Amino acid sequence: MSNVRTEDDRRTAITDRLGRPLRDLRVSLTDECNFRCTYCMPEELYGEGYPFLNPASLLTFEEIGNVVRQLATLGVEKVKITGGEPLLRPGVHNLVSDLLSIPGIRDVGLITNGFHLAGVAERLRDAGLSRVTVSLDSIVPETFDRIVGRGGGLERVVSGLRRARQVGFDPVKVNMVVQRGVNDGEILEMAQFARDEGLELRFIEYMDVGRRNEYHDSLLVPSAEIRDAIDARDPIRAVDPQYYGEVADTYEYLDGAGRIGFISSMTQPFCGTCTRLRLSADGKLYRCLFSGIGLDVRNILRDDVAERDDRLNAAVRRFWGIREDRYSELRGSDRDAAAGSRRHERVEMYRMGG
Ligand code: GTP
Ligand code: 5AD
Ligand code: SF4
Ligand code: SF4
Repeated sequence: MSNVRTEDDRRTAITDRLGRPLRDLRVSLTDECNFRCTYCMPEELYGEGYPFLNPASLLTFEEIGNVVRQLATLGVEKVKITGGEPLLRPGVHNLVSDLLSIPGIRDVGLITNGFHLAGVAERLRDAGLSRVTVSLDSIVPETFDRIVGRGGGLERVVSGLRRARQVGFDPVKVNMVVQRGVNDGEILEMAQFARDEGLELRFIEYMDVGRRNEYHDSLLVPSAEIRDAIDARDPIRAVDPQYYGEVADTYEYLDGAGRIGFISSMTQPFCGTCTRLRLSADGKLYRCLFSGIGLDVRNILRDDVAERDDRLNAAVRRFWGIREDRYSELRGSDRDAAAGSRRHERVEMYRMGG
């Protein structure tokens, strides 16, 4: 038997205290965004001059690649590039091809607000990007402007979506965060738009993530209610999950007009199969969207090159090994104490990678 070990042999999948494997990594490229969505970065709090991370503190693409290479040996197969708004960083297509060249990484997706998408869609496709998801809460200009505040530009987002389809991304997913009294009156209109444009729309239940969003139960529109409204107009049926731990419940239209999904982390939490780790733009790893503290890997990356990989590997093993977060499942029973997360300590979603 040969004693030459291939990269694949060195892969040892790790599991956390609840038996969940590490499979996905969401990588935030920046905490900045050109929009000011009311529930994420409200203009009153994130005005001109807000101290976003300074450029020197952001991980370089090379450093991100080093983290992903180690995580791939521990089970990560899928990477989602996110922000803030990731397309504010130049050259994202280079990162995509670098990540796809790492043994074990089989899927690299991107989630964006779509404003800068049209200009880079082709390059991203050429780099091998697996999927594009655009966050879009309304296609009614007034509602869109009210939600995204500064930055705006619904037409640009729509051109980004169209361009992504044109260059061959399939599916192109659209995430609509639904808020009662804000955009819940536009559910059918949005579904029609997605059907017409060949997009896979997913409705996301509004979550109490972070500290600053003014979540209130009255804003929540349960997925079941949306599903019934869609089904009453254009009948749909459930399709089997496409992979272990898929967050969306996916349906297809009976008339063949494509798929539609529901992400119900409030009414049907999916912590039991949560295989996600998040890497913030300044190099902290978070085990849960509702975490207050992260593991700083930037120090390791910038410290001692000789031992870097082993230290990183050992630190992540320990960090994932003691993971027992399941905030969404616990929030009903023990709100603030759930998963060790206290609201005043939580990290904002745009910061840790949405
Ligand atoms: P693809 O299969 O690659 O398209 O990814 P996905 O289905 O995971 O979807 P996406 O990356 O668009 O994430 C969808 C949304 O689900 C996020 O924007 C969050 O609002 C929510 N979400 C994703 N991951 C988590 C999670 O770990 N916990 C909770 N509570 N919500 C999540
Ligand atoms: N609840 C649900 N989804 C949210 N997102 C941001 N904040 C929230 C929230 N409070 C979504 C964005 C985007 C993704 C990264 O997370 O709309 O689609
Ligand atoms: Fe930007 Fe997305 Fe946050 Fe809106 S939700 S401000 S687009 S990061
Ligand atoms: Fe995963 Fe935390 Fe979301 Fe549960 S609440 S699905 S553990 S990120």
